[in-house]
Amino acid sequence: MNKLLFFISILFFSIVVKAQENTFIPQPESVVFNTGGFNLNSGTQVYIASKYNSVLEPIVASELTKDTGLSLFINKGKAKVNSNYILFEKVKDPSIDAEGYKLEITPDKVVIKAKDYAGMFNGFQTLRQAIPLGVRGATAIPCMIITDNPRFHWRGVLFDVSRHFQTKEFVKKQIEVLSAYKINIFHLHLTDDQGWRIEIKKYPNLTKKGAWRAERDGIAWWSREAATAEEPKTVGGFYTQEDIKEIIAYAKTRNVEIIPEIDVPGHSKALVVSYPELFCSDIDTSNVNFEVAVGGKAPNNTICPASEFTYEFLEGVIEEIADLFPSKYIHIGGDECNKSDWKKSAMCAQLMKDNDLEDYEELQSYFIQRIHKIVKKQKKTMIGWDEVLSGNGVPGATIMAWRRGKYTPELQAPKKGYPTIMTSYLHSYISRVQGPTIMEPEGPNSVLPLSVVYNHEPVPAELTAEEASRVLGNQASLWGEFTPTEEHFEYMLYPRTLASAEVSWSNPKVKNWERFQHALETSHFERLKNENVNVAQSLFTVYPAFGIDQLHDKAIVYLETEAVGYDIYYTTDGEDPTVEANKYTGDFRVKPKSLLKAGLFNKEGELLGEITEVRLK
Ligand code: ACM
Repeated sequence: MNKLLFFISILFFSIVVKAQENTFIPQPESVVFNTGGFNLNSGTQVYIASKYNSVLEPIVASELTKDTGLSLFINKGKAKVNSNYILFEKVKDPSIDAEGYKLEITPDKVVIKAKDYAGMFNGFQTLRQAIPLGVRGATAIPCMIITDNPRFHWRGVLFDVSRHFQTKEFVKKQIEVLSAYKINIFHLHLTDDQGWRIEIKKYPNLTKKGAWRAERDGIAWWSREAATAEEPKTVGGFYTQEDIKEIIAYAKTRNVEIIPEIDVPGHSKALVVSYPELFCSDIDTSNVNFEVAVGGKAPNNTICPASEFTYEFLEGVIEEIADLFPSKYIHIGGDECNKSDWKKSAMCAQLMKDNDLEDYEELQSYFIQRIHKIVKKQKKTMIGWDEVLSGNGVPGATIMAWRRGKYTPELQAPKKGYPTIMTSYLHSYISRVQGPTIMEPEGPNSVLPLSVVYNHEPVPAELTAEEASRVLGNQASLWGEFTPTEEHFEYMLYPRTLASAEVSWSNPKVKNWERFQHALETSHFERLKNENVNVAQSLFTVYPAFGIDQLHDKAIVYLETEAVGYDIYYTTDGEDPTVEANKYTGDFRVKPKSLLKAGLFNKEGELLGEITEVRLK
C-alpha cells in the first residue's frame, strides 16, 4: 500500500513537473526537475537576508498572498527552523552573476541564492512561476534546481508617453508586471512633437503649454489638421518631479531602472512652441504654426543649433534631469532631425563656416557633441538614437540602434567602438500591429508578429567577439501614436514584451518558440489576466491569403498561423467554424466573393483566438 502511494505521488509530481517544465518565461539557463514537492502552507516561514529584508519583505509578502492566498510569516536573517521554510540567502558563488540566482526547491525547503538584490528579486519571480497557477491555500511546488543568469544587463522596454500621455499609476502597474519577467529597464520617451511630459522647474512653459494639445479624437493620426491658437488644449498631461521620484523609487524595489529621454534637436515641436526663442530667429516664421502637434507630421519642429540660448536652455533641462534620475544614462534622442529649417538659416550657415562643418550632418554632429559635453558635465553617459553616428559621430556616447536595411547601425556602432543597445524596428518596434491588419485595432500598416520578436537575435553574426561584447542588450519599443487608451497600450505590450524579455535574458541555446508559445497558452495568458492586463491573443489568429483565378472563376485560398501544433478549421458558408467544419490541410479553391471564416483550434477542440473573416474578392 505504501509502495502504491509512493508510486502515485511520483506520478502526481511528475505530471506537475512536466507542466512546469515548459512554462518559465524567460526560460532559465538550466532547470533540473526532481521528484517530490515542497509543501507551501500557512506554517511555512520565510527568511530574507538582513541586507535585503526591508525592501524585499513587502514584495514577497504581498505577491505570495496574491498568488496563493497564504499570509506567511516573514523573518529577517538566517533560517531558524530545520524544514518548511523559504530562505533568501546572500552568497558568494562564482557561478552566480550580477542579477542571477540559484533556486533550489526540495521537500524541506526553498532556497534562493544570489549575490545582489536583483538576483534575489529575479529568483523570487521565478519561484512565483513555479507555484501552480490559481491555488488558494496550501500547495505543492515541484522540486527543482534552477541556475539562472541574464544574457544582457539591458533588458528594456520603451514607453512613448509623449504621443499619448500615460499616468503614473499605469506606468507603475507595467513596472510591476514586466519586472516579473525580468525586464529591468524602462526607457521613458518623455518629449516629442505631441507633448512634453516632465516638469522642469526652471522652464514652466514646457508643461504649461507643451504638455497640452487640441483634441482630435476619432480622426486618423496622419489626417489631423494642426491646432489653432484659439482652440482649447485639453489633451495631455505630465509627470511632476514628485511623480517621477515615486516611479523611480517604486521601480528600484523591482530591479527596474528608469531612463529618461529628452528628444532633441528634432521631434521638438512641443519644446519649440513652449519657448519659441529656441527656433532659429533669422527664419521667417509668419507661416509657422506654434501649437503643440496633434498628430501626423509636425513641420518646423527643430531647435536651432546656431544659437547659444539653445545650449544654455538645454543645460538647464539636463541639470534637472540629471538630479532627478539616478540612472547613469540620459537619452537625448537625436533621431529623424528634419534639417529643412536649418537650411534656411543664415545663422546656421555662418556656424558651419566658422567651424568648418561640411554639411548639415556635420552640423547635427556639432549640436550632438555640444549636448554630449553638457551631459558629461553632469557625470552621466549620453545615449542617442543611431542617427547620432552620422557626420562626425559622438565618441563616448552609447548608441540605440533602431534602423536596419540600408542603414546598418547594428554593425557600425559596435564596430566603431560604441556600446550599443539594439531595438531593431524590424524586430522590436511593438507599435506595429501583431496580427493580420484586417483583424487588429488601428495601427501602422505593418505587422510584427510575436514569433518575429521572439526569434530575433540581437547580436549580428558579422561582429567579432570583441565587437559583440559592446552589445549591451535588447529593447522592445512601443511608440504611442496609435495607442490612446491604456487597454490598447497593454494590448500592444503583451505578450510581445515577454518574447523580448526572453530574447534579452535567456541564452539562445535554451530558446524554443514552440515551448514559449505553449508556456503562454497554458500559463502566462492566465497569469497576465490575473494581473488585469489586457493581453493580445493575436498569436492564434489565422492569416488569410488568396488570389483570384479568373480563367477558372475560383479564389485560391492559403491559410497560415505563427502558432504551431494546432489545427485550422474554416467555412465558406457564413457559419462560424468549429472542429466540425473543414480542416485546413493546404490551399483550396472556392467561388470568388465567398465569405471565408477561419479559426485555430487546440486538441480539445477549443477555439484559441478570434475568427478571421474575409470576403474573397
Ligand atoms: C525612431 O524610431 N525615430 C527612433
